[in-house]
Amino acid sequence: MEVISSVEELKSYLKDKGVGFVPTMGALHEGHLSLIKQSVSQNSTTVVSIFVNPTQFLEGEDLDKYPKKTEADLKICELAGVDAVFLPTISDIYRDNELIIKAPTIKGYILEGASRPGHFDGVLQVVLKLFNIVNPKYAYFGKKDAQQLYLIKQMAGDLFLDVEIIPCDIVRDGDGLALSSRNVYLNPQERTKALALSKSLKRAGKLISAGNRDVEKIKSLCLEVLKDVDVEYFEIVDYEFNTIDSIELNNTIVLVAGRVGTTRLIDNIWI
Ligand code: PAJ
Repeated sequence: MEVISSVEELKSYLKDKGVGFVPTMGALHEGHLSLIKQSVSQNSTTVVSIFVNPTQFLEGEDLDKYPKKTEADLKICELAGVDAVFLPTISDIYRDNELIIKAPTIKGYILEGASRPGHFDGVLQVVLKLFNIVNPKYAYFGKKDAQQLYLIKQMAGDLFLDVEIIPCDIVRDGDGLALSSRNVYLNPQERTKALALSKSLKRAGKLISAGNRDVEKIKSLCLEVLKDVDVEYFEIVDYEFNTIDSIELNNTIVLVAGRVGTTRLIDNIWI
């Protein structure tokens, strides 16, 4: 008989055959597809979920108009070799008056969490539910949502979840715009203006490559590129989302969020 007191040891003893999991809100694009392809290539079974999670949208956000393309999404998944798509309704996932997961006080309420207070509570709530339903060995998340990725990794550790979180690179259009389901809201002029986000990050990357390390200086030079964008934040943090004064290579994320017209966009680069 096995007698095990360590949670990690017990979980690893119980570990069963691995499923790769890609949670999404649908309206799939090449960014999602890159996560799906990575899972298909690394796991014998891949599950994709498509669920526009209401609890991560704040009052007045785009929950009601969030793009839905279920048929096309299913086709994309099928062609990519996905084994199962999980397509629940709200009542499949949520009950009334249920237990609430709270994002950590600081890291869950800065940057995206400051612009969208409570957003990460909803994200963690649904991702935990999805993990418990799918029981994946590996789960794939885009670096595009860097803070989401960080918090999900923290949740997996803090709650002893038996899942490894795999970070995936950001996929961009040829002109640099990070792919997002929300890009469909942009008209042609707005789409051109939106390029300022990735350009500001590119500028940060160049300044850092040239040896600049002063965070305030880099921020002020990059903000010049963003004059046509209603900037919510342009911040530089370390991989743990602590604010920093000086750039450390291989431990820095430059993040930007802003509105072009009524569309809210985010982007980042990892240094
Ligand atoms: P969604 O915005 O549909 O994104 C699903 C996954 O695709 C996330 O991990 C996101 O980071 C990744 N992704 C989106 N655009 C990307 C791009 N251009 N390059 C690489 N990866 C990209 O994020 C969510 O849904 C939800 O919050 C979810 C985790 C599903 C919980 O509801």
